[in-house]
Order: sequence, then C-alpha cells, then structure tokens
Amino acid sequence: MKTLDDLLGEGVSGRRVLVRADLNVPFDKNNAGVITDDGRARAVLPTLVALRDAGARVIVMSHLGRPKGAPDPKFTLAPVATRLGELLGTPVVFASDTVGPSATAAVAALNDGDVLLLENLRFNAGETSKDEAERGAFADELAAYADVYVDDAFGAVHRKHASVYDVPARLPHYAGWLVLRELEVLRRVSDAPEQPYVVVLGGSKVSDKLAVIQALLPKVDKLLVGGGMCFTFLKAQGHEVGKSLLEEEMISTCASLLAEAGDRLVLPVDVVAATAFAADADHDTVDISGIPADRLGLDIGPKSVALFAEAIAGAKTVFWNGPMGVFELAPFAAGTRGVAEAITKIDGFSVVGGGDSAAAVRTLGLDESAFGHISTGGGASLEYLEGKKLPGVEALDRHSEQRRAT
Ligand code: 3PG
Ligand code: MG
Repeated sequence: MKTLDDLLGEGVSGRRVLVRADLNVPFDKNNAGVITDDGRARAVLPTLVALRDAGARVIVMSHLGRPKGAPDPKFTLAPVATRLGELLGTPVVFASDTVGPSATAAVAALNDGDVLLLENLRFNAGETSKDEAERGAFADELAAYADVYVDDAFGAVHRKHASVYDVPARLPHYAGWLVLRELEVLRRVSDAPEQPYVVVLGGSKVSDKLAVIQALLPKVDKLLVGGGMCFTFLKAQGHEVGKSLLEEEMISTCASLLAEAGDRLVLPVDVVAATAFAADADHDTVDISGIPADRLGLDIGPKSVALFAEAIAGAKTVFWNGPMGVFELAPFAAGTRGVAEAITKIDGFSVVGGGDSAAAVRTLGLDESAFGHISTGGGASLEYLEGKKLPGVEALDRHSEQRRAT
C-alpha cells in the first residue's frame, strides 16, 4: 500500500489531489447547520494540512448522511466546508455540486495550496450504486478532476462505493495518515491483544453486533454488554424487559451466545427504567429482575457501572463500541460516562470504536487524550474486527500487488 509519505516524497506541488474524507459529522437536531461533534473533520486535518502546505491543489470529497442519490438540502456539506476552513485556518472553497458545473469550475480555478470541498457524494446515484457500470461512470467523472487519489476516509472503507472503491482503480492512490493510523491500531487489538482483553459493546441492536460478538468471543477475557442491545440478552436469560428495546427474532441467538460464553459475557444487573424515551420522563433505577411492564430501560444502573468498571480495571487491552444508554439525554448518560471513565483509568491500551461512542466521549466532555485511540469509524472498525475484507483497503492494496507482479 502506498502512503501519503510516498506521495509527499514524489512531490505534490501544483498537482491536483483528490482526497476522500469522512466528513459525516453529526448535527444538532434542533439547530440546522450546527455541527455537534467535529471530531471527524479534525481527524483528517493532518493529511489536508500536509498536502496544502506542500502546494497541492486539494479537492476534498465526502458523504454526509444517507440522502437517496439526489440533491437534498438537509444533507448539504456547506456548513462542513465552513468548519473545515476554520480548522485549517485558510478558506475552503465549496462547490454546490459534486461533478457538475460548480465543481468543474472550482477545480479549474484551484491554485497551488488551495482546498476545495465538493458537495455531498451521495447526491449522485452512482456513488452507492450496486451496478458496477453506474458506479464506474461516476468514478470516471470524479477521477477526471485529479492527478492522484488519497483515501483518508477510514469511516467509509467498509463501503463498496464509487469514491472509495472505484476511483482508486482509476488514479495512482495512496493511504492517508488517518487510515494508516486506524489500521495500525485495529491490527494491534485484533492480531495480538495484550491480555486481559476486555471488550465493551453497547448500542441499540444485537443484530448489528452479532458478527463482531462471534468473532471476538474466542479472543476476549470479558465481553461486557450494555446499551439497548442488552435487553434481548436479558430476555434470553428469562427476565421481563417491559417496553425496552427488544429484538424478538434474536432471543434464541442470544441464548446460544450466553451458553457459549459462560461467565465471559457480562450483562447489567440494574438499569434506569423510564416511562418514555424523553429527558423529562419519570425514571428510576431498578434491578433487572424488576423492570416494570410499562417502562423501558434507557441506561445501565450504578451497580452495573461498578461491575463493568471492575472488569475493565484489570485489562491490558480494551475495545469499546456503543454507548451504554441514551447518553444524549442527561438522565441517561451516567452509564456511558461511568464506563468511559473506567476505560480511561486502565494501565493498558484502549480503543474507542467510532461513531456514537466517539461522539459520547467528546459530548460528555471526557478527556480524549486519556484513551489510547479514538476511531473515526464505527461500522468500519467493527467489520475489520469481524475479519471482513474492507473494499476501501482492498482498493488501496491492489496497486502495490499489481506493481509487485510486474
Ligand atoms: C458512518 O457514519 O458510519 C460512516 O460515515 C459511514 O456512513 P454510512 O454508514 O452511512 O455508510
Ligand atoms: Mg454507520
């Protein structure tokens, strides 16, 4: 795999460099255009700064949210261009389309050291199409803008999308520093994690985490399960879970996993149960054997935090993915905060696996530097740990293999 260092070594001054970034940042639901966590934009800065300072003409492209292949103002990257400019300390030009007249004119107008952000890739059906020809045609248009391609969108490397998979087949391609760092960390926790190895999983659905649970169970000393997904496990153990999130069709799978894991799989012993999914809902901490029929669990309780913290305390390696509760609502944030704080205290290496858990670390005001690594990829890091091939990584690798063969 060729890297950004190789590219900088070749020299980039005056060259047009197309950078795939993952600028899929969360926005405030009540304030349009207000970014609640710019972690993903900050994570790609070193790569962008290096290219800009070396005199490249930098064309950045990203997706935002899941628009349906056509322009949708709700998902415009315009506010992200502004934020990126603030972070870079130099203005970022914004193209109001991805491969249309605005983008074409903006690319043509680039000077050495300029940075341009194209509008949301997913405003174009070709980006996510399952049809190779449709994806390829869109990739052709993107590739035509540049001399070389850099992938620094770790959060999207698990997507077989035009900008991730097909563009690198059309241009000399290099892995950016964020992608390289993420892969190095994931290799470390999956190939030879220092023991004891504790994995903490949360989030809403068991079905999303099933493959990673199956892949990790043989490797871990403890697997701690919180978040909405714990209720399907609790149900499988015979507890009533009231109106809590439940995946009926996963109950028997959870029962098998519990049997296979024995005491390595640890579930909450108490939860915060509320009358409704709302910050002002009436709520109480209850034992898991006493979840009222008309309430739903929205966080793990203090006894569970203590139990999880004890398991985490002795770990040499911790991988954490998924919040323990609805941390966005203050009354249900204590579980996630407590577990996160326990992770910061270990005498070992901790990895926060992307998405919501990374956002939780920052929105709860925790010290980011107290973690070994905070990934920018939720789905991507899970798929890596599942042992799946990541299309974006395969695409970056392909070049070097071909070169070696010739
Ligand atoms: C993410 O937020 O997980 C990445 O940006 C990928 O987005 P996606 O899940 O919509 O493909
Ligand atoms: Mg995702």
